[in-house]
Amino acid sequence: ELHIWLAAIAFFLLVVRPLLNRSRVKNRPPGPTGLPFIGNLFQVGPKPHEAFCSLAKTYGPIMSLRMGSVNVVVASSPNIAQEIFQKNGHNFTDRPVPDSIACQKNMEGSLAWAPIDQLWRNRRRLCGTKMFSGRRLDLLQHARHRVVQKCIQRIREHCAAGTPVNIGLLASDTTLNFMTNTIFSVDVDDLNFESTGKFKDLIVMNLEAGGKPNISDFVPALKRFDLQGSRRKFQLSIDRLGHVFDELISKRSKSRAASTDRNGDFLDVMLDLCEEESSCFNLDNLKPLLVDLFVAGSDTSWISVEWAVAELLRNPETLQKARKEVLEVIGEGGEVKESDVEKLPYIQATVKEALRLHPPTPLLLPYLASNDVAIGGYTVQKGDQVLVNAWSIARDSKYWDKPLLFSPERFLGSAIDYKGRNFEYIPFGAGRRVCPGLPLANRMLYFMLASMLYSFDWKLPDGVSPCDMDMREDFRITLRKAVPLWALPVA
Ligand code: HEM
Repeated sequence: ELHIWLAAIAFFLLVVRPLLNRSRVKNRPPGPTGLPFIGNLFQVGPKPHEAFCSLAKTYGPIMSLRMGSVNVVVASSPNIAQEIFQKNGHNFTDRPVPDSIACQKNMEGSLAWAPIDQLWRNRRRLCGTKMFSGRRLDLLQHARHRVVQKCIQRIREHCAAGTPVNIGLLASDTTLNFMTNTIFSVDVDDLNFESTGKFKDLIVMNLEAGGKPNISDFVPALKRFDLQGSRRKFQLSIDRLGHVFDELISKRSKSRAASTDRNGDFLDVMLDLCEEESSCFNLDNLKPLLVDLFVAGSDTSWISVEWAVAELLRNPETLQKARKEVLEVIGEGGEVKESDVEKLPYIQATVKEALRLHPPTPLLLPYLASNDVAIGGYTVQKGDQVLVNAWSIARDSKYWDKPLLFSPERFLGSAIDYKGRNFEYIPFGAGRRVCPGLPLANRMLYFMLASMLYSFDWKLPDGVSPCDMDMREDFRITLRKAVPLWALPVA
């Protein structure tokens, strides 16, 4: 008898209640009918950005679906995105926190997942003015120059041996090294402790556990079982990362106590802020912020470099134009500096075009509606998850001429930028929660690409021609290249 009762309760919770909730709001955006229990999960499948794009052709630029028992609203046009981010931004301030990520302690310290309140506003403002400011990033550029030299040296070795470079691997090592140098003034390889393993492996473990679609997020009743082990893996990565961060913080606190000399890196800024009276920073809430910076900043940036190089190799004329620019501007026997990027409009346009076709977070990060809100003539219900399909908007022929063509020229002399004001192009998001790391991402991407193109010409390995390149995508929260890109550097 107990079984029958349990089955009845489960049926009510998993099937009847979601249907009742769904019918509460009359003017819900249109969308495909889903199956009981799973809703539209199977229709959406492993590449939601593509599935949403094709469903939007039938249901329009604002549609609603049910993913398990979660109501999801998907925006697929610049106008709807603008309504969400600008006109109604105050109703879309919070995020649904994935089950794996919610296990973190001191979540109020997270920039990416904490709700917008006064604490969040203060911390976000201080991150903008004290860490991601032009002055601070200039101050730390010498370290990034060292990192690029190391990257170029590594390519030289491949060049001498005549072996191809795994571009994703090179870009990921270099990006993480940029980040550890900007945040802690140490090389990434110096963070491989015996007790925690390789720092890069911890970041990758964290990205996998937090980014992989997880059934617990669609069927909350299953949360307690952690069927995919995502929470367990995330917790493990957080514990180990926490250990590394504790070591670095304690070492730095000692050196700060012994001397007034400062590196001026992000850690110094954070510890300065912790020392201020009535500060919104303290030693407990630093770690979630550090995790955010590494997790939000690393694979987004390295994925972008890999896609940019892939597109250049697929479009050899564009590759030569980009090389010509950097060779002419820097001149023979020189070296690219981070500050040279301002003089390289074609390189800038190349990065922008790669971010248009391959936005690293194609659906941005999810939002939660805090009230019933009218958008595009429909009602988005309080508690709905809201996704903006930045990927499909940036490939829509209504807003882009020949949208699938890789053409940096479209950005030359164009005022369209990715700072969140042009809603047809929002790879960094928009509104109150637009990516705070954009100024650092900018510098890392342009600098790395310009240096790789200045020092080497690039060719595809023997037997691969541009039109045979495998450009398939692999969706997590981020959109990676499914098949690693190998390229031959030529001195
Ligand atoms: C948020 C993109 C690099 C830190 C975001 C969002 C996007 C994004 C789309 C969500 C915005 C929204 O919800 O509207 C990117 C891309 C990058 C990049 C494309 C590189 C190509 C970085 C870097 C850092 C960083 C280098 C820091 C070192 C963050 C943080 C958030 C965020 C902390 C959460 C902000 C919030 O929720 O309020 N990023 N990002 N990102 N990004 Fe980035």
